[in-house]
Amino acid sequence: MTTANLRVAVVGAGQMGADHIARFSHKISGAEVVAVVEPDEARAKAAVAGLPEASTRTRIEDALEKDSIDAVLIATPGPFHEAVLLPALEAGVEILCEKPLTPDSESSLRILQAEQQLDRPHIQLGFMRRFDAEYIALRELIASADAGALLMLHCAHRNASTGEGYTSSMLITDSVVHEMDVIPWLVGEPIAAVEVKKARKNSLAPAWLDDPQLIIFETISGVLADVEINVNVQFGYQVTTEAVFEKGIAEIGKTAGLMRWQDASFGGVEHVSFKTRFAAAYDSQVQRWVNAARNGTIDGPSAWDGFLAATVSEAAVEAQTTGKRVAVQYAVAKPDFYN
Ligand SMILES: NC(=O)c1ccc[n+]([C@@H]2O[C@H](COP(=O)([O-])OP(=O)(O)OC[C@H]3O[C@@H](n4cnc5c(N)ncnc54)[C@H](O)[C@@H]3O)[C@@H](O)[C@H]2O)c1
Repeated sequence: MTTANLRVAVVGAGQMGADHIARFSHKISGAEVVAVVEPDEARAKAAVAGLPEASTRTRIEDALEKDSIDAVLIATPGPFHEAVLLPALEAGVEILCEKPLTPDSESSLRILQAEQQLDRPHIQLGFMRRFDAEYIALRELIASADAGALLMLHCAHRNASTGEGYTSSMLITDSVVHEMDVIPWLVGEPIAAVEVKKARKNSLAPAWLDDPQLIIFETISGVLADVEINVNVQFGYQVTTEAVFEKGIAEIGKTAGLMRWQDASFGGVEHVSFKTRFAAAYDSQVQRWVNAARNGTIDGPSAWDGFLAATVSEAAVEAQTTGKRVAVQYAVAKPDFYN
C-alpha cells in the first residue's frame, strides 16, 4: 500500500456528496478531498468550507486536468453518472460511484466496455447495504444453512416522504434498486423474474405517485423476495428484512437502540434518514474503498453488479407498467475481467 493519502475529487455535493465529504474529514483515514465538482456555486462553496486546500470545479474534466487526483467519488443523480464515469475511466483513476451505476442496462454496458479497456476493475459501486453488520450476519446465516434452506424474504423499504421530482418509476430505479443488489447477494444467485403490484394509494402521497407498491422477485432457484416500497409513511425511515427458512425465521433492520417504558407506554427513537440508519455501513464502505484503492483494487460491489441491477430495474419498470410478470434477461454473461 502507498503511504500517501488518496487524493479524492467528490463529484456532486448534494445530500449524499456533502455527507461523504464530512465523512472524509472526520472518519476516514488515508484519503483527503482535494476537489469538489459541483455546478451549483453555493453548494460548492459550502462543501469546501472546512477544506482550505480543496478546489471547486464545475466539470469533472477540469478536475481531472487541473487537480492532481487519484480517485473520484461520484454523487451526482444517476442519469448524470455516465458523463462522469467515462472521463474518469479514461483518466484511469479509482472510482466509488453511488448507486445506480446508470439508469439502464444499455448505458451500464457502455461503462463495462469502457472499464474493460483498463487492466482491472476500477469502479466500486455504492451498494452500501453489503457493509451493514446485520445484512452481513444474515448472509452468513443463509450460507451456513443452519436453519435449512432459505425459502422467502419479506423486505420493507419505507421513507417518511418524497420530494417533487420523485416519480413512480423511481420507486424502482432509485429505491428498490438497493434490494435488486442485496437480494442476489444474500441469496447467492441472480434474480430471474419480477412482478409489481400497486396497493391502495396512500392519500398522503403526492397526487402523481402510486405509493405504496409491492415488488415480487423470484431468484433462479425459486426463492421469493417481496419488497414493500412505501415512501410516504410520515413517521420515519425503515429498511427491514425477514428471512423464512425451512426450520426458522430471522429478522434484521428492526428499530433498535434505547427503549423506554414509562407512563403506561413504551418506545424508542426511529431513524428519519438513510444517513443515520446506514451511517456505519457508509463509513465501512468508504474506508474499505480507500484502503483498496491505495492498493490498486476494489473491495465491494463492482460495475458488473451495477449492470445486473440495471437489467433487473428495467424488467421491474416494465412489470410496473404492464402489470405482468417479466422474466429478467441479462444481455451478456459475466466477463472474466470481473471474476
Ligand atoms: N447509497 C444510498 O443510500 C444513497 C442515498 C441517497 C442518494 N444516493 C445516491 O447518491 C447520488 C446523489 O444523490 P443525492 O440525493 O445526493 O442527490 P442531490 O440532488 O441531493 O445532489 C446531487 C448533486 O449533484 C450535482 N450535479 C448534478 N449534475 C452534476 C454534474 N454533471 N457534475 C457535478 N455535479 C452535478 C447537483 O447540483 C447536486 O448538488 C445518486 O446517485 C443517488 O442515487 C445513494
